[in-house]
Amino acid sequence: MQINIPRGTQDILPGTVEKWQYIENRIKDLCDRFQYNEIRTPIFEHTELFLRSVGDTTDIVTKEMYTFEDRGERSLTLRPEGTASVVRSFVENKMFGLPSQPVKLFYLGQMFRYERPQAGRFRQFVQFGVEAIGSKDPAIDAEVMALAYSVYESLGLSKLKLVVNSLGDKESRLAHREALMGHFSPSIGEFCKDCQSRLEKNPMRILDCKKDHDHPLMKSAPSILEYLNEDSKQYFEKVQAYLTALNIPYEVDSNLVRGLDYYNHTAFEIMSEAEGFGAITTLCGGGRYNGLTEELGGPEAPGIGFAMSLERLLAALQAEGIELPIEKKIDCYLVALGEEAKDYTVGLLNELRKAGFSAERDYLDRKVKGQFKAADRLQAKFVAILGEDELKENKINVKSQETGEQKQVNLDHLAAALKDFQSY
Ligand code: HAM
Repeated sequence: MQINIPRGTQDILPGTVEKWQYIENRIKDLCDRFQYNEIRTPIFEHTELFLRSVGDTTDIVTKEMYTFEDRGERSLTLRPEGTASVVRSFVENKMFGLPSQPVKLFYLGQMFRYERPQAGRFRQFVQFGVEAIGSKDPAIDAEVMALAYSVYESLGLSKLKLVVNSLGDKESRLAHREALMGHFSPSIGEFCKDCQSRLEKNPMRILDCKKDHDHPLMKSAPSILEYLNEDSKQYFEKVQAYLTALNIPYEVDSNLVRGLDYYNHTAFEIMSEAEGFGAITTLCGGGRYNGLTEELGGPEAPGIGFAMSLERLLAALQAEGIELPIEKKIDCYLVALGEEAKDYTVGLLNELRKAGFSAERDYLDRKVKGQFKAADRLQAKFVAILGEDELKENKINVKSQETGEQKQVNLDHLAAALKDFQSY
């Protein structure tokens, strides 16, 4: 019986995996330039962590988590996102005491959400995310957005839209909450069951509803921007001034809510405006989460971050017709004629590899023509051909596949000869 891959997951096969590696390397390089250090946290955490941080009224927590009981009857959850784990680790490892502040971290790893699979939406996906914890300077909000933006830009994407909003501080949000309740409660019966329960618990979530987003009351809902107090307003203005200084184009959208509860002040998303990208246009989302460290038992340490999935990044590259410059050539393919020469190439191959070359030989007993074809398929830069006569004379023929130039060299010095050949 054939067993297939679970819905919403994918195999990343050789041929495609090189694109992933290319992007991962670009991300690591940019994180180094922006001075974010890698952190690796477990794939599963105590369920409580996500209830407390992501929020118990969010879609992620109510519908999408892979939660299970382990043999010790603890409730564990496969991480649906990375911020909660990073903040937990920040508190647990007392990173607030490190001399270098703010603490700037990045992660690259699998996340799990039980969502309805469709283009751009998987049940297992890979997020690249960053978190800067320990500063409430609006300049770091701009830096975080600049980093997300430069990942896309540096890979050649141009059809991007950065949308920003402010969710304000606690006081502003409370005022907005009152206004939202007043706005929605007379007609809440026209909304879905989820929205009805959101009204009391977290009315802002109504604005994020996937079912009722066309209801006329959604468009006329009071905007958070009208309820920002002076501090929140000034903070948001400063963030925008920095974005302008960084030459990053952006739009303000007061309807941008985000699907997680820990946000306040800055919230942002980067969308793809490429034609044919699909219904889900969000490439990346993030925002500020002052108060989350305290919620998770730590001292005050305001934070901001974002996450993007590599799956959507790859889809955006495809939609914009961008080919990554991936070269997959091997240095040398060993072609052998006759049994003795074939045996000899076993050790010779190993020597080349030890000397630092990527090298391959035939394992299917192919004829010479077949071996040359295999060398072509692997895009070998050099082919080294060993016949019975050459073996007797302790020689080997080397041919550059790029220039056609050929040389006969001492068999004991093949690696050195290849180095010489390459340096021409
Ligand atoms: P989020 O908006 O839930 O935020 O997800 C961020 C990004 O993860 C999305 O913009 C998208 O690229 C990707 N993503 C989410 N769900 C899926 C899925 N089912 N399939 C493919 N890609 C997906 C967060 O996760 C926050 N932790 C971001 C953050 C970091 N905020 C502050 N720091």
